[in-house]
Amino acid sequence: MSNLVPPGAAVGVLGSGQLGRMFAMAARRLGYRVHTFSPDRDTPTGQVADLEVAAPYDDLDAVRAFARQVAVVTFEFENVPAATVEAAAAWAPVRPGGRVLHVAQQRLREKGFLAEAGLPVARFVPVRSLEDLRRGLAAVGLPAVLKQAAWGYDGKGQAKLASAAEAETAWAAVGAQESILEAFVDFEREISVVAARGLDGSVADYGVIENVHRHHILDVSTAPAAVPEPVAVEAGRLTRAALEALDVVGVLCVEFFVTRDGSLLINELAPRPHNSGHLTVDACLTSQFEQQLRAVCGLPLGSTERLRPAAMANLLGDLWAQGEPDWAAALAFPDVKLHLYGKAEARPGRKMGHLTALAATAQDARLSVLRARDALGARPVETS
Ligand SMILES: Nc1ncnc2c1ncn2[C@@H]1O[C@H](COP(=O)(O)OP(=O)(O)O)[C@@H](O)[C@H]1O
Ligand SMILES: [Mg+2]
Repeated sequence: MSNLVPPGAAVGVLGSGQLGRMFAMAARRLGYRVHTFSPDRDTPTGQVADLEVAAPYDDLDAVRAFARQVAVVTFEFENVPAATVEAAAAWAPVRPGGRVLHVAQQRLREKGFLAEAGLPVARFVPVRSLEDLRRGLAAVGLPAVLKQAAWGYDGKGQAKLASAAEAETAWAAVGAQESILEAFVDFEREISVVAARGLDGSVADYGVIENVHRHHILDVSTAPAAVPEPVAVEAGRLTRAALEALDVVGVLCVEFFVTRDGSLLINELAPRPHNSGHLTVDACLTSQFEQQLRAVCGLPLGSTERLRPAAMANLLGDLWAQGEPDWAAALAFPDVKLHLYGKAEARPGRKMGHLTALAATAQDARLSVLRARDALGARPVETS
């Protein structure tokens, strides 16, 4: 197995959502073939890949057959079972490796790893029973957040506790399963750093991105984040430390809380391109997806230079409540780019696409992307 995977080769993606779709688009531009593996058909990734394999993740024969046909395997979905990654790794290098997945896909392992590596996290304790939770509240303090340890995303499986009386409800809300109890951080803002690490250990990051969540789902990202330079530098340093401690080959996003005294706490890691990095597609010389491709193929990383300040707004399924959004109205903004993921069904909370705006300042980009998104909903009343 040669380390360099040159253009023309086939790359395999575990998972088939929008992250895989944008990865596949970047890979195909560079002349690669893309195979995707997930339980579903007609997926966002499959629609633009050369080959879409639909099989359960625990069908290890199907996983092996998939891996045999590609030169390298990466993923866009980190909740792939460890056995799947092992089966694939027997036939093709998997980048980032199984250990990165193992750490990132379970919140207790993730926070434990970060704390052990000397990286700053909020106070936390493991919770495996209601009694643990009661004891944990005394240790961690109030308010606190209880999160199920495995399978959480977009705020699913989380409960905030304002008082000890809410313990029972919170324990039920996470499904009475292994969880992590964290101190609730009264943050000033949330930021993220998307970075890549090549096979040769070189590191490149996109600087600090500011993130605003709505109902626990990312709503708007803005780059650069409005934080003092030392905070930005420290976020970059911590991100590099996480990449190196995990020996990542690929892309890693580190989500941070900026506290009111200007210090940083790591909230979570994503060992793949991240929603907050979608603006790199339009705003940076090398997108986070091309960077993932370069890293996992053993190629030099590209420049992360941002050409202009930028902002990204997610388009959730809720936008479809009144029918098809008014695409032309958003596209009437000349500096706004529309991305849609090819999902047929628009469910509330489902990520259907995003808009990116470029402008002279981050604040202008944010205003512009919000206006464009508002315009999507402002459809003229139909008269007959
Ligand atoms: N300990 C915390 N203190 C304050 N806010 C939190 C905390 N944990 C999560 N949140 C809020 O909920 C959002 C989603 O939580 P996160 O742990 O990132 O889960 P997910 O995997 O769903 O993204 C965070 O971006 C933040 O806004
Ligand atoms: Mg998160």
